[in-house]
Amino acid sequence: MLRTAIPIAVISTLIAQAVLGHGDAAPQAVDTTGLPTLPSEMATQNPWREADAELMMAAVSIGGAGYNSNCARCHGLEAISGGLAPDLRYLEADEWGDEWYLTRVSHGAEQNGAAKMPPLDNILSQEAIWAIRTYVETRPDDQEFVARKSEIQEINARIEALKSNPSQAAEVADALFEMSASFEAASGAPKSVTALDEAGQLLKSDPPRVEAALDAMLGILRN
Ligand code: HEC
Repeated sequence: MLRTAIPIAVISTLIAQAVLGHGDAAPQAVDTTGLPTLPSEMATQNPWREADAELMMAAVSIGGAGYNSNCARCHGLEAISGGLAPDLRYLEADEWGDEWYLTRVSHGAEQNGAAKMPPLDNILSQEAIWAIRTYVETRPDDQEFVARKSEIQEINARIEALKSNPSQAAEVADALFEMSASFEAASGAPKSVTALDEAGQLLKSDPPRVEAALDAMLGILRN
């Protein structure tokens, strides 16, 4: 598996932007460099739902940035709705959910002639639309992080220990991937993608980026 092919710096920057950019009002095109080009005819189902780890990670980080600049101000930071608009994490990751997702993204939503959600398909490329879909449907249930806090603290301690003994990095990375896979996606998607995956990927780089992996864990530890 080619887990290191996406530059880690790109992922970290995108995630940082995703946090800092919250509140941007104007819809923005999304840079989808790093994702394969999709056929010009719009897919009817998420083409990346079963993607391999490398492509999945790229779709999630690019989709997360795209979500932030175009959707977060209404649908909530990290796709956790504050009540202004529906919580997209729970939109079923299946054919029906994809159809409804595309309907809303293409046509927006109106009530009594007033726009509640703008149509966004004129701003977003097909790759951006499906990357955002991949991001929202792979969000884990944040309550699970709270429930499994001690487990998360334990694996964080194993990352800490790599500072003095980095030879265990690959092993800890695999444990992180395995643990991440055990968090269910709120949408019922086959896999959730979490900061544990990001930390694992940082540890798989050569040399292992222990400090960066610890930084990646900060958000999840705050739960
Ligand atoms: C200006 C606020 C606003 C923005 C920006 C916005 N939405 Fe929405 N969205 C809404 C509102 C409000 C609804 C609920 C509409 C209704 O059903 O009455 C909605 C509904 C949806 C739904 C249907 C959800 C469901 O469970 O029925 C999807 C999917 C969706 N939006 C996706 C997106 C995506 C993806 C983006 C960014 C690319 C986005 N929206 C940007 C306000 C917004």
